Amino acid sequence: MGDSAKKWWQTAVIYQIYPRSFCDSNGDGIGDLQGIIQKLDYIQKLGVDAIWLSPVYRSPQDDNGYDISDYQDIDPMFGTLADMDELIAEAARRHIRIIMDLVLNHTSDEHPWFVEAKKGKDNPYHDYYVWRDGKEGEYPNELKSAFCGPAWEWVPECGQYYLHQFSVKQPDLNWENPKVREEIYRMINWWVDRGVGGFRLDVIDLIGKEPDSMVMAEGKMLHPYLKEMSKAAFRRNNLVTVGETWSATPESAWLYSNPDGSELSMVFQFEHMVLDQKGNVKWDLEPLPFVKFKQVLSKWQKELEGKGWNSLFLENHDLPRSVSRFGDDGKYRVQSAKMLATMLHGMKGTPYIYQGQELGMTNVKFDIEDYRDIELLNLYKERISQGYDELDVMRSIYAKGRDNARTPMQWDESKNAGFTTGTPWLRCNPNYTIINAKEALTNRDSIFYYYQKLISLRKSESIFTEGVYELLQEENENIFAYTRETEKEKLLVLCNFRGKEVSCVLEQGWKDGEVLIANYDGPYPEGVLRPYEAKIIKKKKEGFHA
Ligand code: NOJ
Repeated sequence: MGDSAKKWWQTAVIYQIYPRSFCDSNGDGIGDLQGIIQKLDYIQKLGVDAIWLSPVYRSPQDDNGYDISDYQDIDPMFGTLADMDELIAEAARRHIRIIMDLVLNHTSDEHPWFVEAKKGKDNPYHDYYVWRDGKEGEYPNELKSAFCGPAWEWVPECGQYYLHQFSVKQPDLNWENPKVREEIYRMINWWVDRGVGGFRLDVIDLIGKEPDSMVMAEGKMLHPYLKEMSKAAFRRNNLVTVGETWSATPESAWLYSNPDGSELSMVFQFEHMVLDQKGNVKWDLEPLPFVKFKQVLSKWQKELEGKGWNSLFLENHDLPRSVSRFGDDGKYRVQSAKMLATMLHGMKGTPYIYQGQELGMTNVKFDIEDYRDIELLNLYKERISQGYDELDVMRSIYAKGRDNARTPMQWDESKNAGFTTGTPWLRCNPNYTIINAKEALTNRDSIFYYYQKLISLRKSESIFTEGVYELLQEENENIFAYTRETEKEKLLVLCNFRGKEVSCVLEQGWKDGEVLIANYDGPYPEGVLRPYEAKIIKKKKEGFHA
């Protein structure tokens, strides 16, 4: 297969599972691997090709598993290595690959490497982490942790600070140390040998950090490290690799996702996810600038054409629910969830569906003591101590808190949404009595079946993978409209982002096109789109009539 041949992941749709919130098989209130195995038929029914599993490695769970203390074991709360092997095999039987989450920028402070490293400067593991000399109380510099407070922590035994870009319990690994890189590549190969189908690489743009010059993302050595890792570990078994890169620009994405396979398959870029905020603080809310939103998504479509590969997503375990954020989680919940799915799945790239997105799950409003996320709780403490108005802080948490995405998966209308027979680690969204998988599976008009249809269209119509993207009516404040085009065919994707009727004038020729999918039935006056209406129309081009 040449470089230009289609890769399996280019026609694939990937489903993300946040294991602790997916399905609890043993009643301890926390989702687990056996729970996932029980739900594989449900996932298969949706039609996806792979599951990205947020971390299930051994971990003290300070950041819900993004703090790993053993990369080669499963945390007992999730199960055992044997359960993991069973999951890989059971998924494979259903033609589904398992993508593991690799957290390589940092480990847990309880990882044996760090336990050794902090014993003293002479310890052989000391140099596995990033240390700077200093005096207690005088930080090496102003670097801040993503979870509030300084990014440096003092260790008296060493008379030094260590770097932690996330919590104090997540010390940053020192990628400059070749031994660290070798250990990591060995570990990745061990998972590949076990049969995993790929990797999602947590905050991978940070590994080339240069803390002394305050350059954390996309440091000079980032791409050389990625090339080395790709060579050492990623070039077999048709793996898919997707990097989490908050700092990616289209130019860097050409490198990350170079079709020659020298680095990764694709990256998650977040430019469209940081528009409804002031500056780079996600908690400082701003209304979504809709035209800008279209321009950003379109820019990525255009810039990566022929040069790289996009990942397409509106949700994950760190982001609020898309129907609450970009649609309407009240009256038009169903229509707007389908509209958002249409907008995203019509684009070029690999779509990701986050658990519950296929049900139109929504954000929550809890009291502060009902939240569990370290980022959100730190933010609350910090802002209250700085004198912010509590209502204001809670408004930010309702809109952007990560626990919005982490409430238990809503399986049915029984107690705790059928997620657990015990006490769930995080409260359920009370709307589970209405929004749940059981209801979705019995209702032919459900969001679930709409996703199922979108996924099958991506498989049957190659224009979804190949067609070149073009934004229409850029300045239109209501409608997101674009085309996809190949030599033979053209698709029109039309999405009304408003909860009201809007007028929509179509170019000649589309009226007779074939409607591949739509979120409303029946005829309607020409030139009008109903609230959150969406459709995809296909037409053959001149000279290519069947
Ligand atoms: C990104 C992950 O998605 C997030 O959940 C985590 O807290 C940070 N990286 C740190 O690993």
